[in-house]
Amino acid sequence: MDELGERIARLVRQVIEERLAVGGELASASTPGGRRRPLVAANWKMNGSRAMAEGYPSGLRPAPGVELVLCPPLVLLPPLAAALRAAPGLPEVGLGAQNLHFEPKGAFTGEHSPGMLREAGCRYVILGHSERRAMFGDDDALVARKVRAALAAGLRPILCVGERLEERESGATFRVLRAQLTAALAGLGPPAPAPGELVVAYEPVWAIGTGRTASAAQAEEALAFLRERLAELFSWAWARGARLLYGGSATPENAAALGAQPDVDGFLVGGASLEPAKLSAMALKLSEVRAR
Ligand code: 13P
Repeated sequence: MDELGERIARLVRQVIEERLAVGGELASASTPGGRRRPLVAANWKMNGSRAMAEGYPSGLRPAPGVELVLCPPLVLLPPLAAALRAAPGLPEVGLGAQNLHFEPKGAFTGEHSPGMLREAGCRYVILGHSERRAMFGDDDALVARKVRAALAAGLRPILCVGERLEERESGATFRVLRAQLTAALAGLGPPAPAPGELVVAYEPVWAIGTGRTASAAQAEEALAFLRERLAELFSWAWARGARLLYGGSATPENAAALGAQPDVDGFLVGGASLEPAKLSAMALKLSEVRAR
């Protein structure tokens, strides 16, 4: 689909979704009271097995008011989806992918199109992750194309941005965040995607898989900054409705302190998400601090 086609498709979808919003999928981004609904997304990265996928749902516990999304390796989606359907007493758990190709089909060996992900049951897709930026050539321009393709196909991007350690130490954090966010969202709108359709995750590269979590103050400062940039790009009403996540060595131990920050709407979890009990504990902590 060309760019004009994508815009028209998005406009049509937005109009339809706005009409269905109350009680529909769009409403899942906010609570009936209009507050942002917390979101905890699991990024399994290239981890797991069929056995793990089949057993995972039985280790999950409900966390009131918190949306849970699981992003396993693609081949594990079918057994995971089947196990989720068979698990009693679990609220709906969303599924997501960790990457996509921006074209709808074609000779792109090893890749998956947005439509294929939708058909496989994905509602979300992680894009711009620092591991893909560093190891697979996902530069700002490519991330922007992927974001547009995801939205056009009805997938919700979880757009990752974050600075490297040397960038933080040289005082470049906010310049990097602004540049990555602006580039990834270039060419979006009008119309803007609905705020529930786009999630932004702040993942400082130095905190990913290192056990060195950003402090609650650092996470809040970065996410508040990103929300302001989103307000500049779209509007304040839009930015207030969008969910922003923290990712980088987030665990049950630090979830309450991070989750208590006003601009932290949830987590994108790597290592800890491989254990459903830990992921559930984080969602529960978030649910508790939000209930206060
Ligand atoms: P860790 O939680 O393992 O640090 O990974 C974070 C991450 O990269 C999630 O996308």
